[in-house]
Amino acid sequence: MLWIKSFHIIFVISWFAGLFYLPRLFVNHAMVLSSSAPDSVASESLKLMERKLYRFMLPLALLALGFGIWLWRGYGFSGGWIHAKLTLVVVLIGYHFYCGKLVNDFSRNQNKHSHIWYRWFNELPVLVLTAIVILTVVKPF
Ligand code: HEM
Repeated sequence: MLWIKSFHIIFVISWFAGLFYLPRLFVNHAMVLSSSAPDSVASESLKLMERKLYRFMLPLALLALGFGIWLWRGYGFSGGWIHAKLTLVVVLIGYHFYCGKLVNDFSRNQNKHSHIWYRWFNELPVLVLTAIVILTVVKPF
């Protein structure tokens, strides 16, 4: 099970690299759009980076979740913490797919948000990560 836990942590970290970096690209992209045309060179290269990064994140998410479910079934945990954690995991999956919608909006030149909005949006995975790690390690209930 320690091998499974190691791979769970490795893929969680890899998935989060994308969950932190992609919204940061959105901040830059919204700033570029506020001062140049939607199909400027900078905007087109950000579109490409966003699409490639997003495509790479799905297998990482599936592996992180797959190893997590394996651990859960393997250990047979049933405390309140695991249910709270799974609820936050659902929020995270929603965030992941919402990022995909935003990637599409940018690629069709239909971004609706300012760079300030993306700066706040960028904070959500930090809060969820903090809560999940505390729930998993401390198991407060
Ligand atoms: C389907 C989703 C997930 C399930 C079912 C799941 C389940 C589990 C289980 C059962 C453990 C073992 C806990 C222990 O040994 O005490 C674990 C460990 C861990 N999980 Fe998850 N997990 C999931 C997603 C996540 C996510 C999204 C994160 C990060 C935000 C995360 C972070 C961690 C960490 C850091 C550990 C190591 C804790 C330790 O060794 O004390 N997990 N997970």
